[in-house]
Amino acid sequence: MACVETSSSRPYHLVIFGASGFTGQFVVEEVARTVSEGPKGNLKWAVAGRSKQKLEKVVEQAAGVLGKPELRTEVDIIVADVADPDSLAAMCKQAVIVLNCVGPYRFYGEPVVKACVENGAHQLDISGEPQFLEGMQLNYDSQAADKGVYIIGSCGFDSIPADMGVIYTRDQFKGTLTAVESYLTFGSGPEGTCIHDGTWQSAVYGFADSQKLQSLRRKFNHKPLPFVGSRIKRRGTLFFSNDIQQYTVPFMGSDPSVVKRTQRFLVEEHKETPVQYGAYAGIGGVGNLIKLMFTGMIFWFLVKFSFGRNLLIKHPELFSFGLFSKAGPTRKQMEGSSFQFAFYGEGYTEGEDPSQGKPSGKIRTLVQGPECGYVATPIAMVQAALTILSEPSALPKRGGVYTPGAVFAKTTLVDRLNKHGIQFSVL
Ligand SMILES: NC(=O)c1ccc[n+]([C@@H]2O[C@H](COP(=O)([O-])OP(=O)(O)OC[C@H]3O[C@@H](n4cnc5c(N)ncnc54)[C@H](OP(=O)(O)O)[C@@H]3O)[C@@H](O)[C@H]2O)c1
Repeated sequence: MACVETSSSRPYHLVIFGASGFTGQFVVEEVARTVSEGPKGNLKWAVAGRSKQKLEKVVEQAAGVLGKPELRTEVDIIVADVADPDSLAAMCKQAVIVLNCVGPYRFYGEPVVKACVENGAHQLDISGEPQFLEGMQLNYDSQAADKGVYIIGSCGFDSIPADMGVIYTRDQFKGTLTAVESYLTFGSGPEGTCIHDGTWQSAVYGFADSQKLQSLRRKFNHKPLPFVGSRIKRRGTLFFSNDIQQYTVPFMGSDPSVVKRTQRFLVEEHKETPVQYGAYAGIGGVGNLIKLMFTGMIFWFLVKFSFGRNLLIKHPELFSFGLFSKAGPTRKQMEGSSFQFAFYGEGYTEGEDPSQGKPSGKIRTLVQGPECGYVATPIAMVQAALTILSEPSALPKRGGVYTPGAVFAKTTLVDRLNKHGIQFSVL
């Protein structure tokens, strides 16, 4: 079984790497809020990054925001730089789990995965970059298995709500679920909202490199996933959804890739029936549609050239109509923001034979929660880590590079998320 205990040489349950980043600071606050949920009611943790001064400031800020002055003396600081392998090794040797918030992962992620595998620490990240996530599976799965280490990507808003949402929908359906479509919508308060530049950079470089993903996938040599029931409907690149009453586009993030990898794992390891998945996002009314088409065309043109990428990276606000910014959202904006995933599933009800006729049963579920990037993401990441520490016997027997759904399908992660404001329900 994977190591989940601290020891004199591995003193921390969690080390937050990249704690000084925009997202990292909120992960620090979330860990500080949940220490009593750790093993024996006392989670041992430290912050890590390349600048001691910045880390001290983050701890100071968390102490002020949470009214916990004790953090100033209790939280240890580890200095580690992605460019310095010895510093990464020293950090990983001290942690049961590294919560890696250093991105874009395509540039900084691999040395951290390597150091975790070599030094026996589990790693959770919040990458939404399929190329990085699938590349790590290709290159480190067997080494992680040999070491009994879990490397679990996409443990933030990308892609825990979607991946666990499909599993939740399957578990709630009375019969054999065969297909799910999800529709993602966002809400914001009077002050509006935006996403920090770190995610914009990950997206710009991800789209620029998207062709490499196809050749990476061929290296897995996977057989096509079998399917049961009717083939899931292929919808166009833009349509009006009567269900969510918005114009809708295919969701461009990591969710489809992550859910598909999870389903493959469940089919191959547990002989479960695969669930086909389609992911869509609502973009709103005609006004937003025009904005999206305009920015989309400019984005697709610029992202192909290095001068264009430099322009996009330099001016996130200009090229995203204010959706991304170098300053990130304010706390007030975050308070007013929310997300909602509506899942529409179909399958064969109990007693029906999934090999005969068309699916006749339907189910509708919802996963909803607070602001996605810096409230829901830290909650998801921290609860995923606490699940590893608390429920080792419900995790896969072997270490490896996994999706959240593959690791947490048999755990109480959904219940934990429900208690922390990311709500799963059947409609
Ligand atoms: N899954 C989700 O839904 C979700 C949500 C939010 C964010 N994210 C992802 O999380 C990542 C971070 O986003 P962000 O907005 O927080 O970015 P950010 O503010 O730019 O933070 C980046 C962090 O990486 C650190 N870093 C950079 N180079 C480093 C190096 N060589 N060694 C050690 N640390 C280094 C930075 O340290 P310094 O402070 O010293 O510069 C900083 O702490 C992005 O990939 C983003 O896409 C995902």
